[in-house]
Amino acid sequence: MRFTLTDTPPDRCPCDLLALPVPEPGTLHGEAADVDRAVKGRLVEIARAEGFSGKPNRTVLLHVPDGPARRILLVGVGRDPASERLRRYGAVAIRRARELRAARVALATSIGEGLGGTPDEAVRAVAEGAGLGAYAFNRYRKAENDAEVAEAIVIARRGDREMLGRAMRDADVAVRATYRARDLVNEPANVLTPSALAEIAKEVADQSGLEHRVIDYEEARAMGMGLFAAVAQGSAQPPKFIVLEYRPNGARRTVALVGKGITFDSGGLSIKTASGMKTMKGDMAGAAAVIAAMGALRELGVSVRVLGIAAATENMINGAAMRPGDIVRGLSGLTVEITNTDAEGRLVLADGLAYAVRAGADEVIDLATLTGASVVALGDWTAGVMGNNQPLIDRLLAAAASTGEQLWQLPLYEEFLDAMRGDISDLKNSAGRAGGAERAAAFLGEFAGSTPWAHLDIAGPAFAESAPPAPYLPAGGTGFGVRTLLRYLTSLG
Ligand code: BES
Ligand code: MN
Ligand code: ZN
Repeated sequence: MRFTLTDTPPDRCPCDLLALPVPEPGTLHGEAADVDRAVKGRLVEIARAEGFSGKPNRTVLLHVPDGPARRILLVGVGRDPASERLRRYGAVAIRRARELRAARVALATSIGEGLGGTPDEAVRAVAEGAGLGAYAFNRYRKAENDAEVAEAIVIARRGDREMLGRAMRDADVAVRATYRARDLVNEPANVLTPSALAEIAKEVADQSGLEHRVIDYEEARAMGMGLFAAVAQGSAQPPKFIVLEYRPNGARRTVALVGKGITFDSGGLSIKTASGMKTMKGDMAGAAAVIAAMGALRELGVSVRVLGIAAATENMINGAAMRPGDIVRGLSGLTVEITNTDAEGRLVLADGLAYAVRAGADEVIDLATLTGASVVALGDWTAGVMGNNQPLIDRLLAAAASTGEQLWQLPLYEEFLDAMRGDISDLKNSAGRAGGAERAAAFLGEFAGSTPWAHLDIAGPAFAESAPPAPYLPAGGTGFGVRTLLRYLTSLG
């Protein structure tokens, strides 16, 4: 789908489908009223007949065989619409366009009367929603009946053209990066092995001018990454510790992103149930978000140095697999008793965090599908954030708020770390069920040391099993975290 920006008035914009956002109570203002006049009041007529009141995501369709727009779609954006409503509007419009086999879709972005933010914010939200909503993972099935939308024409009559253009480009970059993460999560574990992920990371690096380095099992062992190696040792697939580096001229600070890259989590000897294993190809969603975000930094002109680390391995079972009770030492020097082989994510992340600290990161952010407990606490659609530095957490919360990715802080009280202290080792990798997400984070915090660090537990929102709450979210991999990371990194001076 190609994006274009235009200042043509909606009532004169040639297209197969013209979408208009309408707030509650469904009265047509501004551009929508102009369009209604051009079709001799038929929009208002049909909206009234169908009881349309501008409720979020509700639609009304009018056929106009002789108009510049062959069909007009009113889309409700609710009361007090802000950018998240416009993002959802863009997705509703593009999905409807696909059903209607409309190839050229025009999307109005003005709601009128000072609603919906500045013109460039509105353009960005609508373009992002349309792009995200158009996603489908079709690699493994026969060509769909649904036609693809060829062109999305975003209409903005007001606002600075250069700022509007930048908003469109930023949206497009964020959408493509999110697609990349979604694709990686959706690929099955027999295809997306750690080696395949390392190959893709190399392609991303080549395409976007990043340094890359891949550390294999032997080298990881030799370097002292015993926690990463312990998870990997039970698998027939070789692990890959992937490091990407974005180094813009004049950068004065280094942010490290660390992603959990378990390409399949069987649980190991502390094996999962069949239902617990069903979606565990998605246990590399943190790594997917990191690699996808890394690929977008140059296009967005991010000004800080960014290290992207993806600790990629399976968590499987063979005769060499780690056992409950094993004690291993990681790169930081701390020893860990493996009390549950299914708490593998924190083991690979521990070495990832220690690597980031050693590499001179001024600040570290990790993303991981880490605990079922975070899903119990926050539900399917909200990620938990924890860390050792409140200003960093606040900046991430602010970035998330502007992307619509739901992020909520959980506490890191001293008792959570106490629970993770080992009996005959420095730490153990699992304790009881209570406070599972916080305990996992407390464990990770020991490996960040005094470096400002934030941990995003994305176990819920990274993978959509039930019907997603927003129309721009697909089933399967959602790409959660990519847009928040990009917002955050572009906000750093
Ligand atoms: N990958 C899982 C966490 C997970 C669960 C992600 C559900 C997505 C959906 C992780 O490796 C895991 O197994 N965590 C255990 C930790 C426990 C053994 C301390 C869990 O949450 O049960
Ligand atoms: Mn696990
Ligand atoms: Zn896992």
